[in-house]
Amino acid sequence: MDLTAANAKIAEFSRLIEEKTFNPYSGELKVGVDLGTANIVLSVVDQEGNPVAGATYGASVVKDGLVVDYVGAVRIVKDLKEQVEQILEVRLTEAATAIPPGTLGGNVKGIINVVESADMNVTHVVDEPTAAAIFLGIQEGAVVDVGGGTTGVSILKEGKVIYTADEPTGGTHMSLVLAGFYKTTFEEAERLKKRTEDHRNVFTIIKPVVEKMATIVKNHIAGYSVDKIYVVGGACCFDEFESVFAKEIGIETIKPHKPLLVTPLGIAMHSTR
Ligand SMILES: Nc1ncnc2c1ncn2[C@@H]1O[C@H](COP(=O)(O)OP(=O)(O)OP(=O)(O)O)[C@@H](O)[C@H]1O
Ligand SMILES: [Mg+2]
Repeated sequence: MDLTAANAKIAEFSRLIEEKTFNPYSGELKVGVDLGTANIVLSVVDQEGNPVAGATYGASVVKDGLVVDYVGAVRIVKDLKEQVEQILEVRLTEAATAIPPGTLGGNVKGIINVVESADMNVTHVVDEPTAAAIFLGIQEGAVVDVGGGTTGVSILKEGKVIYTADEPTGGTHMSLVLAGFYKTTFEEAERLKKRTEDHRNVFTIIKPVVEKMATIVKNHIAGYSVDKIYVVGGACCFDEFESVFAKEIGIETIKPHKPLLVTPLGIAMHSTR
């Protein structure tokens, strides 16, 4: 796995989203839709997995793989699709999407329906940590996706996923702890949590949540020979996050830059075109 190359791609994708622009490409485009608990991301990559364009929207229309506001979710995906279509001047007709590991039938259908109601055929449904593993090119080890709502774990051996799991602890729980500590609203705690200049103070308060996440991961990987853990997802943005994991679990823990955008890029790479 080449972390430097992965980081360069993630940084490029972030720039494309921010500047609302695209990179030149050749061949068919691959599209991914990540319906997260905190963020919805539409990502477009080329056949080699290089970022071409993307758009993102912060929303709480899906909760841990369950669509809680169907109309809102469809509207946002349609809007993101139109934004990217305008940037690229092409129509996007197919997409891959993702679910937390263990999501069951009806809820998977709910996710697919959102993307299809936004006029894209769903070609592939992948689980979130596995999407991240594909993007990072991981052959061996565990990938942990700590999003807004859940912590997803995927264990790989010789490039194959041999185990997946998902537990309801994520960035939302960090914000709840912060809100309790400062006796403020959840929304205010979310804002405070994301201010990078306050990360050190915030981290001392939410550290027990990170330790809990580490314990969850430790329990899931017990019995497998894992010698590296890769953490992705918005909730692991804190500088000290991976050192808490390494200390609690006793396994080297690696984090790409901008961990928020890893899973969305991996989902796009799963699109079968
Ligand atoms: N700079 C930041 N510092 C701390 N936390 C952040 C930062 N940016 C985003 N987050 C947190 O990351 C979480 C969102 O991450 P992500 O986009 O990976 O989740 P999601 O995919 O929407 O959720 P899930 O995968 O659980 O359904 C939120 O809890 C958000 O508050
Ligand atoms: Mg996610």
